[in-house]
Amino acid sequence: MSRSRLHTPRVRASFAVAAAGAMFVGAVVITIAKDVETAPVKKKLSGEQLYAINCARCHAERYPTEWTKGEWKTLMTHMRVRANLPAKQSEEILKYLQENCGTNP
Ligand code: HEC
Repeated sequence: MSRSRLHTPRVRASFAVAAAGAMFVGAVVITIAKDVETAPVKKKLSGEQLYAINCARCHAERYPTEWTKGEWKTLMTHMRVRANLPAKQSEEILKYLQENCGTNP
């Protein structure tokens, strides 16, 4: 096969088709990726995660074992306001702290 055969109009045309095909696939991939990015994420965070995200902004995260169940309840009524937390998230955090504080009252 001679080299000049690679430059026949037919070969050039098939290159053009291949390039157009690649661009189309690229566009589809970008469209799908964009959908994934903008799709609403319905992920429920655990009390532990909510605690880590919200309660270490102003001061270091404290160990749940540093206070009793009752003390955590009081602390949460104060810190909940500071962290501007919705009731549900505040309850989840308190549950996590009380379940892991290791004391009875
Ligand atoms: C906007 C800042 C801020 C956020 C957010 C915050 N705190 Fe605090 N926290 C403070 C400050 C300031 C103190 C120091 C004591 C005080 O002034 O009440 C404190 C003290 C504490 C203490 C120690 C109390 C003591 O007697 O030493 C604990 C425990 C605590 N916070 C837990 C939390 C928890 C749990 C959260 C998440 C719900 C949280 N904090 C979110 C500002 C914040």
